Amino acid sequence: MLLPNLKEARERTKKDYQRQEYHLDEALKGKYTGKKYYLKTYGCQMNEHDSENIKALLEELGFDETTDYKNADLLLLNTCSIRENAHNKAFGMLGRFKHLKEERPEIVIGLCGCMAQEEQVVIDIMERAPFVNFVFGTHNIHRLPTLLDECLHTKHQEIEVYSREGDIIEKMPVHRESTYKAFVNIIYGCDKFCTYCIVPYTRGKQQSRKKEDIIDEVLELVHEGYQEVTLLGQNVNAYGKDLEGDYGMAELLEDVAKTNIPRIRFVTSHPWDFTSSMIDVIKRYPNIMPSIHLPVQSGSDRILKLMGRRYTKASYLTLFHQLKEQIPNCAISTDIIVGFPGETNAEFEETLALAKECKFDNAFTFIFSPRAGTPAAKLEDPITKEEKEERLQRLNEVVNHYFLLNNQKLIDQTVPVLVEGTSEKNENLLFGYTDTNKLINFEGSKDLIGKIVPVKVTEAKTWSLDGVYDGR
Ligand code: SAH
Ligand code: SF4
Ligand code: F3S
Repeated sequence: MLLPNLKEARERTKKDYQRQEYHLDEALKGKYTGKKYYLKTYGCQMNEHDSENIKALLEELGFDETTDYKNADLLLLNTCSIRENAHNKAFGMLGRFKHLKEERPEIVIGLCGCMAQEEQVVIDIMERAPFVNFVFGTHNIHRLPTLLDECLHTKHQEIEVYSREGDIIEKMPVHRESTYKAFVNIIYGCDKFCTYCIVPYTRGKQQSRKKEDIIDEVLELVHEGYQEVTLLGQNVNAYGKDLEGDYGMAELLEDVAKTNIPRIRFVTSHPWDFTSSMIDVIKRYPNIMPSIHLPVQSGSDRILKLMGRRYTKASYLTLFHQLKEQIPNCAISTDIIVGFPGETNAEFEETLALAKECKFDNAFTFIFSPRAGTPAAKLEDPITKEEKEERLQRLNEVVNHYFLLNNQKLIDQTVPVLVEGTSEKNENLLFGYTDTNKLINFEGSKDLIGKIVPVKVTEAKTWSLDGVYDGR
């Protein structure tokens, strides 16, 4: 049994990681053929991508996927810790699994992901949820086959969570959800320690993958006909800072662009590490999409400082306007937190003013959620829940207004769209995303699925566009 420890997770070592390649123990291959797994994923794209690895690991053991948990032999939750409601959702689902286990005691239940890295969560599971058979963390996904096999064999609750990052494991199998778009990890962990955020504890130290491994993965995707890659990291702009030499995000973006993959996206960019050489590369390569996610969090300098964000409102705006001026047609999206402990009404008004100035193309807005173990969770917070909810609502009205306005500017323009499939609401409509990452529904033949095609925008809504195929 190996339990998580937040204090240890906080430490940053100088140790160079080793690169290891994944190998499945031959004896386990196909051992569980005929069994079904159900996997539910919460949280960010990094977690979604981890789930693509988890699925492939289980499939190598012989499991097949089912989307109905009631039919599964193995039920696994890949969890997120970022806000309290992510916790609540996962615990709610565990409750349902518990009932199922009362009817079918032979089922196996597992929990992994960021919540598994939290001490208190694991203590609660040991004390109050004996029906959970196994727990593993974000640093030892590759251990899943062995751990699961041990757990099935010993029938004990198996808990194995490393508090610290281990080596980087390359060549894990992957079951990609799409045959057109792919996630590619470039950097794990985060060293920024924004005071409200749990990620540096749950994901550990910043560790970049070797550029050769990244480029090889993208080349393979090009070979398989993929149209788009999203380079993933909690802070992609820090790419390379933990490696020798000055090969950084700008150089990596350029090398990925040279693979000729038709579309490149990257998330998330911390404003502090955004360099002018990155801007230069983005504007020189048309396959790097003009769409940047640049979380601002707050428009107040006092709050930004308390958050530990390392930039001011003025320096954020300078970068924002540089991006807008230098990258033609650049769409910028953001994340904003309202109700950080002690945020005054005047400080909130500064955030509203910034949202009005930036007219973001998209924004994810949140109420501050205290996370155990982070510095901000210990701050005095006199602002009521009602007040915070009202601020969120006012902010949403402002940002939504600009989503619509920005979308309306596209009416009558023809934009490139990667077509992903037929719309869930209407079988006769296709949907896809524009270069600027806007969802568009349009009429066209199903042969267009998986291709990048021109679509003329006919109507704008707050969260999507309508259009018609404009092929000539
Ligand atoms: N690495 C990314 C963000 C990852 S978390 C970055 O730094 O930009 C995604 C978003 O969740 C954050 O940008 C922040 O807006 C929000 N978030 C993180 N911790 C939070 C908390 N404790 N309460 C509310 N929102 C939070
Ligand atoms: Fe969290 Fe800040 Fe790291 Fe983003 S940069 S993951 S908000 S600590
Ligand atoms: Fe959540 Fe972990 Fe991602 S906390 S947002 S799943 S890194």
